[in-house]
Amino acid sequence: MVGSFDVLADNLSINGATESFPADFDVSAVIKEPVPPVVGDNGIVNGDDQISAAKEKRQIVLGRNIHTMCLEVTEPDIDDEVTGDREASMASVLAKYRRALTERTKHHLGYPYNLDFEYGALSQLQHFSINNLGDPFIESNYGVHSRQFEVGVLDWFARLWELEKNEYWGYITNCGTEGNLHGVLVGREVFPDGILYASRESHYSIFKAARMYRMECVKIETLCSGEIDCDDFKAKLLCHQDKPAIINVNIGTTVKGAVDDLDLVIKTLEDTGFSHDRFYIHCDGALFGLMMPFVKRAPKVSFKKPIGSVSVSGHKFVGCPMPCGVQITRLEYVNALSRNVEYLASRDATIMGSRNGHAPIFLWYTLNRKGYRGFQKEVQKCLRNAHYFKDRLLDAGIGAMLNELSSTVVFERPHDEEFIRRWQLACQGNIAHVVVMPNITIEKLDDFLNELLQKRVTWFEDGSYQPYCIASDVGEKNCLCALHK
Ligand SMILES: Cc1ncc(COP(=O)(O)O)c(C=O)c1O
Repeated sequence: MVGSFDVLADNLSINGATESFPADFDVSAVIKEPVPPVVGDNGIVNGDDQISAAKEKRQIVLGRNIHTMCLEVTEPDIDDEVTGDREASMASVLAKYRRALTERTKHHLGYPYNLDFEYGALSQLQHFSINNLGDPFIESNYGVHSRQFEVGVLDWFARLWELEKNEYWGYITNCGTEGNLHGVLVGREVFPDGILYASRESHYSIFKAARMYRMECVKIETLCSGEIDCDDFKAKLLCHQDKPAIINVNIGTTVKGAVDDLDLVIKTLEDTGFSHDRFYIHCDGALFGLMMPFVKRAPKVSFKKPIGSVSVSGHKFVGCPMPCGVQITRLEYVNALSRNVEYLASRDATIMGSRNGHAPIFLWYTLNRKGYRGFQKEVQKCLRNAHYFKDRLLDAGIGAMLNELSSTVVFERPHDEEFIRRWQLACQGNIAHVVVMPNITIEKLDDFLNELLQKRVTWFEDGSYQPYCIASDVGEKNCLCALHK
């Protein structure tokens, strides 16, 4: 009954029907469709069939509201305030949710989020609606803001990427995607007729930006590592020499953690006749933007080079309870993009209007606590653990790849979707990955691997399954399928 406490307390609505709230309630649950083994008429496993059938099963259904679980919002009963039942039932829902989050946090490996943080000191601020709407550098009329923290964080990043205080502009975004949307927008404002170039392994937000801004976009091939293929880049630049170039350079691709060679990208542009006033480079450092500066031998991201903007996600390597990010660009570019907004008494140069004022304080807090040295130590630990994990996978006969500058370990996709969900692995085609962040310890990697090895015995014991071939994703030398081992 809508409005009754019972519904809110222990029932979930499933497409109209209600269902009992399970004890191990998983709020992130999705439809579970096990992939059956594919055995040919002759009883022999056909690798291609296996792959295409699995792909078919993995397809995402568009245009359907996949609405497996929801916590219904119900109208309070007349006597709710007297009985206090509603408060109690909501408290029980939240307690269950908290337990589910604790469990899900323990079994998380696939997304590049550092879940290890302690922000108890900031809980006193949750009573405030902190909003940094407008430009970080201009005081607006809304006084409940955290611009002083925001600018402190921006200064820190500008120093990291070597841009003087009086030469940069930036803001704390809602996520890495917003940084990319802003970076590409600045590029397009600088070169309204520019063509956007991005490797095919760039994050989807780059291609979304191209669609949103109706820009011509040229996809560049990648090497096996996932890095941009500068031979193909050169060939494509030569076909469009009459138009300026706006380039997305990946400081860590989403799936393989590949770092594009920024210096080679710049050289390719110069070699094909693009002078510095005819190109704009946005560096998408969502993933490794904060790790690269601490990796020896890594190509340096610096505004001393002819780049236009850099963005990074704040909730990834740094670790933050809410999505956020940082975008830094050159002040000279942003002046052309911004407009005055009278009712704010500020200037508008951001993608969003209202902006999360809590996020800068969380970032400020962690940067202060850890500092450059703290991050350096964590980066080294992540890279060490990633190497350990990749070596253990290979020793166990599982095809795997780890790019030199990366903590993203790519390996054969597990055959069981339930197992993938349990460990929250991100998968693409026949590969899965684990992104080793500071909270991913050797013990956690060992637990995962031991469970994976046990599962593999059951998947492969009767011969219905075979390890996927991942040669086309990671190269023959990293593939340990029946053909390549
Ligand atoms: C390379 C890259 N760019 C951009 C993004 C988007 O970042 P966010 O999820 O913070 O929007 C991601 C996300 O994983 C990414 O891997």
